[in-house]
Amino acid sequence: MLKNHPNYKIVCLDLLTYAGNLETLESIMDNPNFKFVKGDITDRELVFELFEKEKFDAVVNFAAESHVDRSIENPEIFLKTNILGTQVLMDACRAFDTKRFHQVSTDEVYGDLPLERLDLFFTEDMPIKASSPYSASKAAADLLVLAYCRTYNLPATISRCSNNYGPYQFPEKLIPLVILRALDNKTIPVYGTGENVRDWLYVEDHCRAIDLILHDGTIGEVYNIGGHNEKTNLEVVKTILKELKKPESLITFVKDRAGHDLRYAIDPSKIHKELGWLPTTNFDDGIKRTVQWYLANKNWWEKIINGEYRNYYERMYAEK
Ligand code: NAD
Ligand code: DAU
Repeated sequence: MLKNHPNYKIVCLDLLTYAGNLETLESIMDNPNFKFVKGDITDRELVFELFEKEKFDAVVNFAAESHVDRSIENPEIFLKTNILGTQVLMDACRAFDTKRFHQVSTDEVYGDLPLERLDLFFTEDMPIKASSPYSASKAAADLLVLAYCRTYNLPATISRCSNNYGPYQFPEKLIPLVILRALDNKTIPVYGTGENVRDWLYVEDHCRAIDLILHDGTIGEVYNIGGHNEKTNLEVVKTILKELKKPESLITFVKDRAGHDLRYAIDPSKIHKELGWLPTTNFDDGIKRTVQWYLANKNWWEKIINGEYRNYYERMYAEK
């Protein structure tokens, strides 16, 4: 946003949970148009004080508990952050007449598609049918956003994106997890059969879509974001192993995720037709760039995998 809109003043409110990392923002910390505030979106007092002080024109809500496996382990914080946090931000937008509120949501709110029906895609008018505590919390937030739009005329939009990958991704998500474990010659845990399908999108393509919706999207509308890039988990794992020149014998099939969604596949025709958005990074290039980034940025991820993450990981593995 700072690159594309050099005149904007941006405030990042983030709680720096296990998934947050100030080092990710290192290159913009000195930018006079950028300010970081450590705080919880569910903290009504803090949020209202911040809105009063900053008089925001627009708010984009990225903040969330985002990892499905963690939501299966402990749903509560997902409900608090993802639902109540969204409510607090929207109440603040109402109280301070913020001109735009954008909710960053997920394709997981649609549930899943059958593996054998490759003709089916998620469209914006499909019913909400979440499978995990994480997706249910995001679905609840989406419904609340639409309710605030209709009841209070909150000028809001929602985007529902498919799986992201790219630099700075926390290594609990499949792609960075595979890269870092393969680099260390450790086994690669593939849930179930590895035939589940995800629709992968390079993170900058997602962010460009959010920028477009924030500026030109129609109030009250939902936009799906995805680049028709469906891969089975096994295909993704094998692509990364090939890129790193590591053997496929590292692949280990482990117990399946409870309630594991089978296939995600986005129909992005609405955002393409209305806002002209198309992805610009194809998967082969995106994976190469991502692998190169992790190879070049060991100092970013080393501290993460030696911290709280290690306990989480050991716990997950004791159970699988
Ligand atoms: P992440 O878990 O990697 O990061 C979440 C961020 O939110 C962290 O910086 C964390 O510190 C912050 N946060 C958590 N609770 C907070 C709170 N109570 N108050 C303030 N900050 C808090 O998540 P991500 O993968 O970067 O996802 C960002 C958003 O995009 C989420 O809303 C997620 O649902 C959505 N999304 C993610 C993907 C994906 O593939 N990663 C795809 C579609 C949508
Ligand atoms: O679709 C968008 C969603 O994508 C976002 O809303 C979520 O925030 C994000 O976490 C992601 O959810 P997934 O569950 O699809 O992503 P994850 O990286 O956890 O897993 C991708 C696939 O890989 C999934 O089918 C489970 C599988 N998997 C995952 C891990 C971590 C494995 O086989 N082994 C693993 O170790």
